[in-house]
Amino acid sequence: MKIWVKKAKGLKGEITLPGDKSITHRAYIMALLARGKTCIKNPLKSDDTDATLNFILSLGAKIEKRSPEETIVSSEGMDNLTEPKDVLNAMNSGTTARLFSGVLSGCPFFSVITGDDSLKRRPMERVTVPLMEMGAKIYGRKNASLLPIAISGGNLKGIHYKLPVPSAQVKSAILLAGLFADGDTEIEETIKSRDHTERMFKHFGINLDIQGGRIKIHGGERFSGREVVIPGDISSASFFIAAGTVVENSEIIIKDVGLNETRTGFIKALLEMGAEIKIENERVINEEKVGTIIVRSAKSLKGISISKEMVPTLIDEIPLLALVACFAEGETIITGAEELRKKESDRLHTTVDGLKRLGADVEPLPDGMIIRGGKRLKGGEVESYGDHRIAMTFAIGGLAIEEGVYVNDFECVSVSFPEFLEKLEALKK
Ligand code: S3P
Repeated sequence: MKIWVKKAKGLKGEITLPGDKSITHRAYIMALLARGKTCIKNPLKSDDTDATLNFILSLGAKIEKRSPEETIVSSEGMDNLTEPKDVLNAMNSGTTARLFSGVLSGCPFFSVITGDDSLKRRPMERVTVPLMEMGAKIYGRKNASLLPIAISGGNLKGIHYKLPVPSAQVKSAILLAGLFADGDTEIEETIKSRDHTERMFKHFGINLDIQGGRIKIHGGERFSGREVVIPGDISSASFFIAAGTVVENSEIIIKDVGLNETRTGFIKALLEMGAEIKIENERVINEEKVGTIIVRSAKSLKGISISKEMVPTLIDEIPLLALVACFAEGETIITGAEELRKKESDRLHTTVDGLKRLGADVEPLPDGMIIRGGKRLKGGEVESYGDHRIAMTFAIGGLAIEEGVYVNDFECVSVSFPEFLEKLEALKK
């Protein structure tokens, strides 16, 4: 599906957003591992989270109720999971494939994980290497570095593991396997990645010893189901924060958004550029910070530098940041972001390609890009490359470019944010 987004005269109004994708995945996984009923409020309904839901159903969980407001899951708990009868398909979802590699490594049965063409190209050795070190038997293409992978799990032992890449998916896979393992599992991360798994574990009453970049879990803890409230997705909110910043005459209020500090790098970067963003009504729900974001059109924006240490806090928002940088005076330099090449598309390539098609002055780097802002963008047609975040990034571009923007293959937004266009329409004046 090709869409055309025309220039907006202004965006005004108050919105709430579907639940955070990362937290929804974790809530479903914990609902499977816990004994009894877990009631998940404001879960994200999307292709990625449906993939995780299908995994937990194949492993023995049952859905008691499913409505837009809540999903109630019941399970016999992590010691009573059932061997899946068929291959488990994570579709486009890296989080599903990687986190379940950890869960299934702990289970004393056979399972196979596959994914769509994009996911089959993405690296898996980052999880299979530590999981095999814990004792799981894993087979797959290119020495278990590409899907499909077959896992024969059980009898794990705790390990000490230093993460070679700052990745929450890898950290979470090891922590989940650590729940099943004998003894302690300790993970060391030099650059902190999102910590939703640690917070969700705490919410379920699981003890973690966290000191600086070291996270230790003692195997064998068991827990029961409970209520989990999912905050609005900060990554989805970022599209509206960007839109409110670059579209004139805008004021958008986004309520009940997750504000976990490992995720708010995009807000920090935009504030440094000169954006008008305010946070109100901050509070903590289920160990996660939540609040209201108010964004108004920026009076002027200037270029900034993003370096390696900041990348994990805005990893999924870098394409969007590059777009905003086109509307800022001066250079924005993004480095230390080579990890973007391993996402749903090679996001350094797909971002530079789209920005160039719109007339931006952008120079690719092996680990990032340089955007020379302030040049008027012209309309045009861009490719989403089947990547939801690229598709939404360029739709936001269309709102602020005189001639508008065509985005091809836009249907991929269903991966994380099926209601994106509907929410955007509601804000147009
Ligand atoms: C995610 C972690 C990030 C992020 C992805 C979701 C998660 O990946 O890009 O969209 O839910 O743990 P990495 O931690 O592998 O960088």
